[in-house]
Amino acid sequence: MERALRVARPAGRMAARHPTVSPSSLGLLWQRCGIQTASRPAHGVANQLTLDRPRKSVRYNHTAAETGNETVSQSFGEETQQHRSTKQSVETKGGLVEWNTVMLTLFRRAAGHSPVPPLTLSLLWLRDTCPCVHCVDPDSGQKSFSTTDLPDYPVVEHAELMDSGELKVIWANDALSGGGVHSSLFRAEVVRRWQEQDTQAPYKFASQDPKMILWGRAEYEALLADGRCRVSYQDWIHNDEAFRAAFSDLRKTGLIFVTDVPQEKEQVRRVASRFGSPQYTIYGWTWDVKSKPRAENVAYTSQFLGLHQDLMYNHPIPELQLLHCHSNDCEGGESLFSHGVRAAYELKHAHPEHYYALTHIKSFFGYHKRGNNFSRAHPTVITDRNNNIRETRWSPPFQEPFPLTSDDQGDEDLRRWKVAAAQFKAIAESPSNTVEIKLKPGDCVIFNNRQILHGRRQFSQSQTGEGSRWLEGTYIGPDVYRRAVRKLTKQTPAGKVPRHSSSLHDPGNSQ
Ligand SMILES: [Fe+2]
Ligand SMILES: [Zn+2]
Repeated sequence: MERALRVARPAGRMAARHPTVSPSSLGLLWQRCGIQTASRPAHGVANQLTLDRPRKSVRYNHTAAETGNETVSQSFGEETQQHRSTKQSVETKGGLVEWNTVMLTLFRRAAGHSPVPPLTLSLLWLRDTCPCVHCVDPDSGQKSFSTTDLPDYPVVEHAELMDSGELKVIWANDALSGGGVHSSLFRAEVVRRWQEQDTQAPYKFASQDPKMILWGRAEYEALLADGRCRVSYQDWIHNDEAFRAAFSDLRKTGLIFVTDVPQEKEQVRRVASRFGSPQYTIYGWTWDVKSKPRAENVAYTSQFLGLHQDLMYNHPIPELQLLHCHSNDCEGGESLFSHGVRAAYELKHAHPEHYYALTHIKSFFGYHKRGNNFSRAHPTVITDRNNNIRETRWSPPFQEPFPLTSDDQGDEDLRRWKVAAAQFKAIAESPSNTVEIKLKPGDCVIFNNRQILHGRRQFSQSQTGEGSRWLEGTYIGPDVYRRAVRKLTKQTPAGKVPRHSSSLHDPGNSQ
């Protein structure tokens, strides 16, 4: 019944729906939608492959012709979904290439024992990236066409991985080649570089940045069980090799613990002095997290404190946060940690449209108390120029109202952000992503405040309301952190890390 209602749309209506699409692109759209055009017999591709390349294994599920009687859907998004259903592939000694009418996936042969994860590329991106002499002037290096000249769905007639590792793609009906075929050859080293940059799926976490381990609970607990991410105070301060190992774990995981820190005030600054000077903020050089009445910050209550990042309204946002536990003998009060960058990658993998919203729509953070007026706006997910996710900005307790939404766009942005943020929150808070640790007196946790979300379970207060849970904290700013990283990475394995002055930096102590 439902199927009987699906009808091919007359050309005039298709054109009306896509007024900006050129006639040649419309022809391609028709093809994608399963309607044959005179220019290209839709069953030709598979036959050609079978005939021309008998040595190669050619598999295909169905060609565009076989979708002929199916629906012409209602939007570009739906069309994209429908296009994904057609699939063809070519297998060679170099590996397997599989494509539909939107994306192409490479399964390169592994050299040695290390498996090569699949790499998925947009066909539109791939056609736009063609490095041939017709597309890029060999002398000037300039592109000879505009991306806007391309059809929405460039058609692959054939693609294969060469034995040498190059990717060859032959385009059919190429608008830039007068409707004929066009050949693109991507060098092996270029394909390998794409692979290194590719970061779409959780199983590629390890490859996106060798410096980062995007842990979930099980992975982090395994690291702890291995003796990683933990160092004694004595070693942190006096043993350069142990310090270097712990600092390296901090760079990779964003979360380490220094144990057996002396139970004296200001020791957190001694721990921080290994990086350099702390960052002064509205809370001072160091600050105490204790519950107190009429607290100016939700951290100073005994309530549950959901996962968040600190000082999103501040410039610069602190890179590291250190929390030294002086006492924690209350019921509850466990510390919670979740990797924000991992949550963002999981979101990207499961809901690309929500991920896109969080990388583009800004939310607003502010602090307006005690004579302070801070306001900043950030997208929730921060990426670098290669689309690697680097940091997150998540702090519901310090969020400010979105800009007044008196137009449709503002309303739509707010709605899109809300739905996407709910998904991000659910992923970050899921038990499999949350590490829960009750700090003991003498523990000092150090975490990357730009990448790791932290929170706290509710705890029971003592009669006096104070003393049952007391953490002393400080921040390290990004400049000091980067300088410390540079010093660390300049060291040869046999070399010594130059010790920061063991005397505490004290430029106007506010205590
Ligand atoms: Fe916090
Ligand atoms: Zn080209």
